[in-house]
Amino acid sequence: ATIFVLNGPNLNMLGKREPGIYGADTLADVEAKCQAYAGGIGLGVDFRQSNHEGDLVSWLHEANDKAIGVALNAGAYTHTSYALHDAIRAISIPVVELHLSNVHAREHFRHKSMIAPAAKGVICGFGTDSYILALQALKSLTQ
Ligand code: DQA
Repeated sequence: ATIFVLNGPNLNMLGKREPGIYGADTLADVEAKCQAYAGGIGLGVDFRQSNHEGDLVSWLHEANDKAIGVALNAGAYTHTSYALHDAIRAISIPVVELHLSNVHAREHFRHKSMIAPAAKGVICGFGTDSYILALQALKSLTQ
């Protein structure tokens, strides 16, 4: 079984981008960590990143046919995107919203998530471990 791990805008800059907030690991490091963990619990990971909102919408639709769940770090689209909210509602597999940083301890505009009401649950604040916790949640939701 496959889990889609979808990453939104600016996450391609991980490692170089505000390392005090997001850490030193690159997105390739995060993918390697996800692949290793998922392999250990009998899951495959399809790991993707885009800076374009529509790609994330299309990938959520694609996941509905190809995956048993989605771990979604939508980046700043989390706080703005009705389209991602609707895409999550349009599919029948569980979506776990995740963030590296604790968005609730940051700027006010990050406290609101447009996608959380459509998601199965939300994980934030554990750095790259947030991805692992999301995979673990999807494993127990779907087994
Ligand atoms: C983020 C938090 C968002 O507020 C921000 O826009 C990001 C990254 C996180 O992983 O902590 O791009 O989703």
